[in-house]
Amino acid sequence: MNILVTGGAGFIGSHTLIELYAAGHTAVVIDNLSNSNPVALKRVAEIIDVPEIPFYQVDIRDRVGLEKVFAEHHFDACIHFAGLKAVGESVEKPWEYYENNIGGTLVLVDVMRKHGCKNIIFSSSATIYGDPAEIPITENCPKGQCTNPYGWTKSMLEQVLIDIQKADPEWNVVLLRYFNPVGAHPSGRIGENPNGIPNNLMPYITQVAVGKRPELGVFGNDYPTPDGTGVRDYIHVVDLARGHVAALKAIERKCGIAIYNLGTGQGYSVLDVVKTFEKVNGIKIPYSIKPRRAGDIATCYSNPAKAERELGWKAQYGLEEMCRDSWNWQRNNPNGY
Ligand code: NAD
Ligand code: UD1
Repeated sequence: MNILVTGGAGFIGSHTLIELYAAGHTAVVIDNLSNSNPVALKRVAEIIDVPEIPFYQVDIRDRVGLEKVFAEHHFDACIHFAGLKAVGESVEKPWEYYENNIGGTLVLVDVMRKHGCKNIIFSSSATIYGDPAEIPITENCPKGQCTNPYGWTKSMLEQVLIDIQKADPEWNVVLLRYFNPVGAHPSGRIGENPNGIPNNLMPYITQVAVGKRPELGVFGNDYPTPDGTGVRDYIHVVDLARGHVAALKAIERKCGIAIYNLGTGQGYSVLDVVKTFEKVNGIKIPYSIKPRRAGDIATCYSNPAKAERELGWKAQYGLEEMCRDSWNWQRNNPNGY
């Protein structure tokens, strides 16, 4: 298939390009580069040994720009990664998050349908479950209260896409609810490149490891978990990328609406991650216990059985590979791209 990849220069998008080409698909990327660097696309092209990845620096809110891309290419489906994703920033700038993520997706979907492309795979998040009603979380777990505007954009966009598909059954909509993506391509050439102080655990740990930050703050050790620290379902970004290729199968068999959790099904605490990182990479990660972070929950991990049953997809990598590849990327690229 020929796939439009929005946000394809970003962390998950760049890894997904590699897996799409490996599976025999082709892709065209649009990205406004608001949170990414075009060097990532050059490196993707090197890894998969193609001269270049077709790329347009276009904002998904730019209808004219999108029309131009659709006039030049036929797309079988869109994998829609483009969006703002910083939880804290979304609390400070809710308008910008709703306008970019929801406004942008509405323009994208309108241009897609005008050009007869009614197949979309959407990057959603486990955050839509709120404080989950059941653990491990299946796709039938009710959606919950989000603690920030970023999370609400994901929750609302799921509903928008479901309603559009209901009104026009020619659409096929796959909602992929990611758990905690970490790791990097094993080549160490592409990876996560956060701006400023990382919010998420793994990039913070790798920045401590590389000497950019003195120590990790562990946000709370009094949760009802085995060691008191928060438990999450970390998933290697290469496995996550392959989940998107597998999701194309749902589109091919005209799924209508299909929803999948993409996680490993295994929960690890903050201290599990620190200890595994230290063991695998032979580097000490100094840490101290800090107060709980507002909006955090104790435990969140998936039941990923539906994706295995229906898509034949299952995560292959464990926490050790996630820690190894995150560090390999950071060590080779101490200042990102
Ligand atoms: P990322 O920031 O690395 O990638 C997103 C890309 O979208 C960036 O390259 C950015 O420049 C681009 N973009 C943003 N707004 C745009 C716009 N208006 N027009 C065109 N391009 C735009 O983030 P990521 O980690 O690769 O995440 C990809 C998607 O997955 C996002 O939608 C994110 O919300 C979602 N997601 C990410 C995580 C995670 O932990 N990384 C978890 C759950 C869901
Ligand atoms: C966070 C977001 C969530 C988003 C997800 C994407 C919040 C409240 N939630 O989830 O909306 O979908 O990222 O991956 O920001 N931790 C520390 N010290 C740190 C950083 C994190 O102890 O410096 C702990 C956290 O308290 C948590 C765990 O590590 O227990 C994982 O945190 P993080 O990587 O930020 O992911 P989530 O909180 O699961």
